Amino acid sequence: MIGAVTKHQFDGLPPRLYVQTMTDLTGLLNPGIERFPLRKPLPPSQIDALSREILVLKKQLNAVILAHNYQVPEIQDIADYVGDSLGLSQQAAATPADVIVFCGVHFMAETAKILNPDKIVVLPDKDAGCSLEQSCPADKLEAFQRTNPNFWTIAYINCSAAVKALCDVICTSGNAVKIVEAAPPDKDLLFVPDENLGAWVMEQTGRPMTLWKGNCYAHVEFRRDALLELKKQFPQAQVVVHPESLREVRDLADAICSTEKMIDYCKTNAARQFIVVTESGILHRMKKDCPDKQFICAPVFDVMKMPSDSCRCSECKYMKMNTLEKVRDCMVRLAPRIELPENILRRARLPIQRMLEISSRPLENAG
Ligand code: 13P
Ligand code: SF4
Repeated sequence: MIGAVTKHQFDGLPPRLYVQTMTDLTGLLNPGIERFPLRKPLPPSQIDALSREILVLKKQLNAVILAHNYQVPEIQDIADYVGDSLGLSQQAAATPADVIVFCGVHFMAETAKILNPDKIVVLPDKDAGCSLEQSCPADKLEAFQRTNPNFWTIAYINCSAAVKALCDVICTSGNAVKIVEAAPPDKDLLFVPDENLGAWVMEQTGRPMTLWKGNCYAHVEFRRDALLELKKQFPQAQVVVHPESLREVRDLADAICSTEKMIDYCKTNAARQFIVVTESGILHRMKKDCPDKQFICAPVFDVMKMPSDSCRCSECKYMKMNTLEKVRDCMVRLAPRIELPENILRRARLPIQRMLEISSRPLENAG
């Protein structure tokens, strides 16, 4: 729905501030969430053999392996760098390697390619997508942008290269507040594609924005009731939440931040127990970095899981498409390779570089 400024309710809770209208894109969103078969962990001997092969290939290719915090443990363990979207794009921008092996999802590998058009960028599974990316097709965004020439479009990095090419600046969950605070004051802000991250940023900055109606299918499965139950079981635990979650869940958080900042928070906070409200792959680093602390996965509401299924941790089906074997294979074949049209590469680089520049500013000059 496109209209005048209106008071909007998030997740059925009373609004905190005035928000502009939201685009009604219900028809574009995924109708259902198909489940992938359960992952079978690799035996340790196979992990060792594959890891050794990958390290040899890495030397031969002069490659760097970048991995997101949600990747399976055995991939995180062979990576040169493991981090959040911001850290990964900073690493991609600075790497002297000839080949970038991107263990994450498609939009992350595309971002690395945009920053390194002359390098080879491979993604272990070409189908590792993202529900946020799918929710915002470039042609629909372009049509919506035409409705207001005064829009300043801020795109969460979880979008396609073609969408990035249409935007003024990119942000990640790690710098979204800083990026919005640095936006020109005379512009009408359009935030795409995550309505939950956008709503949280509005709460933090007080800056009204028009929100694209996309969401992360994995994070919206966290629910307030289940989290309240878990808090009762672990009353001493700190609750750390990713901002892609619903407001009803964010409202129960002790800290709301990107995956990398979640890890920092658990490292530096004096508490011994943490309820972690994001994809469960992050627990590998948390346990590695804080072996004396306890991390508890928040359960997800999932109608497809049997009541007898005791593991209700959240997994992103896209992030979990990458396996150690596929990492080895993509290095042997140098495929699947990320290729993008020249005009998209050129146009999408601008808003990413703007993000990296704003992000590197000291806090007092952030805007
Ligand atoms: P981070 O940048 O916080 O790691 O988030 C990426 C993501 O896809 C979260 O679902
Ligand atoms: Fe996309 Fe959500 Fe998966 Fe992150 S967790 S890659 S936002 S679908």
